[in-house]
Amino acid sequence: MNKPIKRSWAEPYKIKMVELIKMTSPAERRKALQEAGYNTFLLKSADVYIDLLTDSGTSAMSDRQWAGMMLGDEAYAGSRNFYHLEEVVKDVYGYKYLIPTHQGRGAENILSKILIKKGDIIPGNMYFTTTRLHQELAGGKFEDVIIDEAHDSESEYPFKGNIDLEKLDKLVKKHGAEKIPYVSMATSVNMAGGQPISMQNLKDLRKYTKKHGIRVIHDMTRVAENAYFIQQREKGYADKTIKEIVKEICSYTDGATMSAKKDALVNIGGFLAVNDWDVFEEARNMVVVYEGLHTYGGLAGRDMEAMAIGIGESVGDDHIKARVGQVIYLGEKMIEYGVPIVKPIGGHGIFVDAKQFLPHIPQDMYPAQTLAAEIYQDSGVRTMERGIVSAGRKANGDNYCPKLELVRFTIPRRVYTQAHMDVIAESTARVFERREKIKGMKMIYEPKYLRFFQARFEKIK
Ligand code: F0G
Repeated sequence: MNKPIKRSWAEPYKIKMVELIKMTSPAERRKALQEAGYNTFLLKSADVYIDLLTDSGTSAMSDRQWAGMMLGDEAYAGSRNFYHLEEVVKDVYGYKYLIPTHQGRGAENILSKILIKKGDIIPGNMYFTTTRLHQELAGGKFEDVIIDEAHDSESEYPFKGNIDLEKLDKLVKKHGAEKIPYVSMATSVNMAGGQPISMQNLKDLRKYTKKHGIRVIHDMTRVAENAYFIQQREKGYADKTIKEIVKEICSYTDGATMSAKKDALVNIGGFLAVNDWDVFEEARNMVVVYEGLHTYGGLAGRDMEAMAIGIGESVGDDHIKARVGQVIYLGEKMIEYGVPIVKPIGGHGIFVDAKQFLPHIPQDMYPAQTLAAEIYQDSGVRTMERGIVSAGRKANGDNYCPKLELVRFTIPRRVYTQAHMDVIAESTARVFERREKIKGMKMIYEPKYLRFFQARFEKIK
């Protein structure tokens, strides 16, 4: 009997230009890995076949975005592209005031410096590397208030990005609301596997924080992907458009930091957006110190134009359905091969559970880092570690030991085909078959900040 044909989405675009990529031999990859200290961040892109290191800045722009690049107004002050971007941010996200920045962390730096005082506590739904570091550098301490399910790769809870309001309330009772400048709320929680927060949870959070006079700052890097899961899973949202859902999400928050290199389909760019005039005024002043004048914030006029157009495309229903559909396609293949992955499948990539994949390698021998190196060795597919190396060290020097020890297969938007997804799943399955022979690694060089980017490793003999 024939299986029913399952085809629920296809790319809402066709390909106008291609970029050639190179296949390498196992010997070439072995040498490249050695030279990179077994850290996939240190590989040269030319040695990579399919690049799943990140979905950040790696998406394909549309013909309209490229056409927009030609409309760049490179005036130092008051570029017309800035005003276009400002209008789009207001229209799509609803935030009143905009400060462009060179990328997300530029916005995090400015916001943290303005809102955080020494000794402050910043609760959030799981840390993100750069976000937490800027909070710490500003004198604050991050406290994780995500629901417990988020730390369990097996839990199929549909909104693993939700905030546990009891955990938040405990912090407020312990430290007092005046010590909490804002709740750091991310949509599509990256480190949890691209897991969404529900609209109901956001509404409850808004109600609670309003009562206590605490701001909600939104890390909206992947807000459209979160909106897709709300549309698919949450009661009352099936008939709403992604654009409507995105705007509603933003309406429960006071401001946002954005890395436009993800959702917004550009290769560089970001912004800080706020509703509060006082915060805006301070940010507008500070951006000239760290980024550039407040009407360009480290970006060229053409970058702002591409971003304005990309934001519009990013909230298209067909776009997001195909984008997340491709991620789900890869995840389902992995599951078919028996590869342990974080469930439910998230919005921007597949997160392989390295603790389950390599149960014989203890966490201090870097199972996820090891697995990322093994997958590159097998097929030239580049992934990245999201486990103990990414988590880094606490202020007192101890390692953070996250429950989740993951390898992230991040899918760039509009870049790879279904055949590429098949190659990726097949390679992972091959490594899975020989998993028992894989040994761990030791770290031989550790930089002080964000060590995962530049650390070096050696194989344990
Ligand atoms: N917030 C989230 C949730 C992110 O995923 C990132 C970047 C940032 C903030 C910082 O933005 O890179 O533009 O400065 N994430 C990339 C990644 C690096 O690969 O996940 P940025």
